Amino acid sequence: MSIPKQLKPRLICKSSSEYFPVETYRFQGSDGGLLDIEYEAIFPKDKIVKRPPGMWRYREALPFPVEAEPVSFGEGFTPMPRVNVHGHGIFLKQEQLFPSGSYKDRGATLLVSHAKRIGVQHCVEDSSGNAGSAIAAYCARAGITCDIYLPASTSPAKIAQISAYGARLRLIPGSREATADAVMNAATSSYYASHVWNPFFFHGTKTFAYEIWEQLGFRAPDAVVLPVGNGTLLIGTAIGFEELLKAGEIEKLPKIFGVQAELCAPLLGSEPSKTDRIEVTPSQQTIAEGIAVARPPRGQQILEVLRRCNGRVLCVGENEIIASLRHMCRQGFFIEPTSAATLAAIPKVFRDKAWQSEYREPIVVSLCSGHGLKASEKVAEISQTRPV
Ligand SMILES: Cc1ncc(COP(=O)(O)O)c(C=O)c1O
Repeated sequence: MSIPKQLKPRLICKSSSEYFPVETYRFQGSDGGLLDIEYEAIFPKDKIVKRPPGMWRYREALPFPVEAEPVSFGEGFTPMPRVNVHGHGIFLKQEQLFPSGSYKDRGATLLVSHAKRIGVQHCVEDSSGNAGSAIAAYCARAGITCDIYLPASTSPAKIAQISAYGARLRLIPGSREATADAVMNAATSSYYASHVWNPFFFHGTKTFAYEIWEQLGFRAPDAVVLPVGNGTLLIGTAIGFEELLKAGEIEKLPKIFGVQAELCAPLLGSEPSKTDRIEVTPSQQTIAEGIAVARPPRGQQILEVLRRCNGRVLCVGENEIIASLRHMCRQGFFIEPTSAATLAAIPKVFRDKAWQSEYREPIVVSLCSGHGLKASEKVAEISQTRPV
């Protein structure tokens, strides 16, 4: 099969309509707008299936030169067993099995590969823990130094992991937003390897969609259930399926359900079909620390994506998260509370009859997003107490 000639990827700031070469160190447009990558993904299946089972098998769909060497541990192509989650049969991607223990490695391998290619020697990143661990791991592999900004309340295992990789820790008192504000100063003078601002990150997470497509026998599922904090997996997954649709590889987009914790649910009040506005709602501390993002910078983009995918936001309470964690651990899935939050929403997905009427037995895919070892003390505490 002959491969069509691809256009060179470039960065675009949609709010100011500016274009930048991908080699730039800037992370926003001149009006402070968010950057995206303009790129045409192609899927030469005959080549893809002959490559090792990892996310770099989709080389022609990634904005990184096909001939260049990525910074990689051979990650991806995570198993996708069929599992009974709260009484419903779904496919469950084992994203906790990535080298640093969460799906964030999908974004980190592409972002750090790109950073290395353009000559970055030092970078900064802010995170609730897992994106910081992923960036620190790949920077260690690439020989790039990094400073990782974290809320001081981050799970001790994540702090220990980041420090072990040799990253410099910057622990910030207060909320996740206080940490995001603190990194901004540093980001003006260092490369900002942000999983939120840097679009290379979600062009890595989009491989989650490609793998589902391939593992289902080159077809799309009916629905995907994802966590939403900053939306890096949700935006990436939607881009991935939209690229497959555009390339004629699937016939329609799956419905996307985004899951938030009731105690921090800025997207819940903003039903995607009705508004572009993100509700600024008071938020409280939740055990699902990975999705505790009260002001997601890409909030509007998340709503646009959900609208295009006929999606919805669902919320789960702390007791539902705890029950879900116990349920999953008792089946052998050792996951962190944030992962359990996503799976706590599965009964609500199946209770929503409106979308299911079209399908006899809908194909639903979700994931274990982070490993239990990331928050082992919390998991132990929850699993040893009696259910409420
Ligand atoms: C385990 C886990 N799951 C889900 C998320 C949600 O992330 P996002 O919405 O930014 O993709 C995070 C973010 O840190 C996480 O650590």
